[in-house]
Amino acid sequence: MSIVKIGLIGSGSISESHLQAYKANPKVQLVAICDLNEERARQKAEKFNIPNVYTDYNKLLGNSEVEAVSICTWNNSHAEISIAALRAGKNVLCEKPLCKTVDEALQVEQAVRESGKFLQVGYVRRHASSIGVLKKFIDADDLGQIYFAKASLIRRLGNPGGWFADKERSGGGPLIDIGVHVIDLCWYLMGKPKVKSVSGNTYNKLGNRSNIENLDFYKAADYDASLNTVEDMANALIRFENGASLMVDVSFTLHAKDNSAQVNIYGDKGGAEIEPKLAIVTERHNTMINIDPQITSPGFEFQGAFNNEINHFVDSCLGLTETNSPVEDGVEMIKILNAVYQSAAEGREIHFD
Ligand SMILES: NC(=O)c1ccc[n+]([C@@H]2O[C@H](COP(=O)([O-])OP(=O)(O)OC[C@H]3O[C@@H](n4cnc5c(N)ncnc54)[C@H](O)[C@@H]3O)[C@@H](O)[C@H]2O)c1
Repeated sequence: MSIVKIGLIGSGSISESHLQAYKANPKVQLVAICDLNEERARQKAEKFNIPNVYTDYNKLLGNSEVEAVSICTWNNSHAEISIAALRAGKNVLCEKPLCKTVDEALQVEQAVRESGKFLQVGYVRRHASSIGVLKKFIDADDLGQIYFAKASLIRRLGNPGGWFADKERSGGGPLIDIGVHVIDLCWYLMGKPKVKSVSGNTYNKLGNRSNIENLDFYKAADYDASLNTVEDMANALIRFENGASLMVDVSFTLHAKDNSAQVNIYGDKGGAEIEPKLAIVTERHNTMINIDPQITSPGFEFQGAFNNEINHFVDSCLGLTETNSPVEDGVEMIKILNAVYQSAAEGREIHFD
């Protein structure tokens, strides 16, 4: 069996899900790991039996054994490290978002073209097993043309702090961190229509609410609540050239009764509720039908989706398939996300030519 030799850069919180997935894949050998924090890299190296440990990603990329890399660093280093990895001849799985700015995204795209290697964007929600099921219905045209989608990911308390809350390193708050997942998922299922215009609002009303006690939430490896320069809530209306539209609202904190996730798509032959649980809606013989697919994971199952994402990346490295999340999909999403921020800052709709 062919084996892919993997290096991982950025051994913080989410690296655990990548490493677990690589470990479970018999076509993978984990050969190198890197983090600015040497102790953190060493701990993971020990846990996952990884022989080479670095604190400088260039050194990892200089290791000719490494064939492909997972990039799990702060958003502000995604572009730089992706470009260096591609130029070093490695295939890349880059965590979402692809990067912070459109300029950076275009540079990464250029590096993919010049290197002949590929870059997969870490759109893990595309890899949920429920999405695999739904995609079969969509590809069979059971939903018809999808003309409206609604995505909402509300955390009542969940600013991860540290670099996530530092706009300089993250590029923004809940919109670029969690909004990217659901905007991408809808856009992907809608058939990747070209964006026409974006109207958005962002709010910095509640701060990070680090004063709240007795509630757990996701935290960056270096949690620090002293700095917070990102929005705590964003909403947007995105119009596409084919006439379809997408409404989104996301928060790190909001006076909501509970956390919630709702992602729905609506076509002219049928619709689907994706989160919290897959359901398909249609019409047969003048009767409205709600289909309740009987599947093991009808919602988003975190580690299962990561396993699928990594297996897909590995198979793409081996030439067994072609990645379904190429760099172009990262570029398009950065355009949309930045347009939401621009629209909010300027108080007007942003139009694309
Ligand atoms: N797909 C998902 O569901 C999901 C979930 C969480 C985070 N993420 C993404 O994963 C990335 C990391 O998030 P996290 O939660 O693990 O953050 P984290 O802060 O827990 O870990 C990031 C690690 O990267 C290291 N690092 C930063 N810059 C580096 C560099 N130049 N070289 C080497 N190491 C460097 C840091 O020292 C830290 O250990 C982010 O891009 C985030 O958006 C994705």
